Amino acid sequence: MNILIIGGGGREYAIGLRLREDKNVLNLYFAPGNGATKAFGKNLDLKDFNELALFAKNNDVALTVVGAEEPLTKGIVDIFKAQGLAIFGPSAAAAKLEGSKAYMKDFLARNHIKTAKFLSSDDLSEISKFIDTLNGRIVVKADGLCAGKGVIIANSKDEAKKAAADMLSGESFGEAGKRVVVEEFLDGYELSFFAICDGENFVSLPVAQDHKKLLDGDLGPNTGGMGAYAPSPLADAALIKRVESEIVAPTLKGMKQQGAPFCGVLFVGLMIVGGEPYVLEYNVRFGDPECEVLMPLIDGNLSEILYNAAVGKLSSISLKERFAVGVVIASERYPYGSSQPALIEVGEIPAGAHICYAGVSERERQIYASGGRVLVSVGVAQSLKQARDAAYALCENIKFSGAQYRRDIAHQALRDKI
Ligand code: AMP
Ligand code: GLY
Repeated sequence: MNILIIGGGGREYAIGLRLREDKNVLNLYFAPGNGATKAFGKNLDLKDFNELALFAKNNDVALTVVGAEEPLTKGIVDIFKAQGLAIFGPSAAAAKLEGSKAYMKDFLARNHIKTAKFLSSDDLSEISKFIDTLNGRIVVKADGLCAGKGVIIANSKDEAKKAAADMLSGESFGEAGKRVVVEEFLDGYELSFFAICDGENFVSLPVAQDHKKLLDGDLGPNTGGMGAYAPSPLADAALIKRVESEIVAPTLKGMKQQGAPFCGVLFVGLMIVGGEPYVLEYNVRFGDPECEVLMPLIDGNLSEILYNAAVGKLSSISLKERFAVGVVIASERYPYGSSQPALIEVGEIPAGAHICYAGVSERERQIYASGGRVLVSVGVAQSLKQARDAAYALCENIKFSGAQYRRDIAHQALRDKI
């Protein structure tokens, strides 16, 4: 089959790389793709959803896979489905789970799914009153999509009130901040839980852990994610069972009941507090860089798994008994600003390691770092430590001006398990 992948980051590169292993996959198309996806697919310069659907029809595309949240919240799935095209991802109505934090929190409360105590409002005096009832750090979030930047963790009530006021005025995040969610700070560890869903049923993927902060030791500013690994030993079988029965199953049931069945990947951002799983947020797509470590762990025919989910007939999934670690190499000024394009030189690729390219461009067959998160060095092995070592051995052989990466990916898991 021919497959169209919407997006152009490391996540979409990883999906493409994995799909290329399926014997039944003929052509891969990326819209827009990046400078490195050209090596195994065709990049398309199309943005309009109707034009993309027309391309899919004219080129025998049997399945479209959507990487990022934005086209999902804007209804790409609805447009493709209306034209009888198979597409893996949620409808705009179901994508609201990520598109609006207020919607998500109300959904969680209505369905009795554990989450941080919260208030969602557009009224500053109501918000201030709620803030006065909270102790310790306070989290203030813009309602709409802000490319991962709309969350402020305030150290005092005054700071929280100021953050809320700045959001409501439109100053910090424009329209996305005209409604805010204020919530209690949950002190625990985060995990990324992924389930492939067909609207009714789901299969879980290995539990991953991301590293959102820029610097070693989880310090510095928040980023889109500086590295990930899976499966995480921080999630044992009992915890996974609880997440499935107390969070994922009721989420699918609740979405179906309200007329927006969830098809695609449900990504539950969890905070584990004293052994209890709380939902921090839902995302309606694979995480990036989590996707880069999950793809090599999936056994069997991925195109069939995604196709079956897309058409409402979920099939089982088998997983490799392996661990994967992904280390993001970012450009010099990430996450503050863009950097000058820099030639990427790759030396020897150690056994068990590979690269997923993200923010790169291509010129005369050379790959250039063109900004943000440039690539992910992925190690896959029989133990987490071996996978980590393979990923870092590859990092040492990748050079470009201004390259930066964390040295401690998987530290929470490996601390006492080396
Ligand atoms: P979100 O976009 O809601 O996942 O928030 C981004 C990041 O902010 C999360 O990955 C957490 O690290 C942090 N965060 C969000 N909400 C909370 C909370 N209630 N307690 C502690 N940390 C939080
Ligand atoms: N890595 C977190 C995300 O994709 O939202």
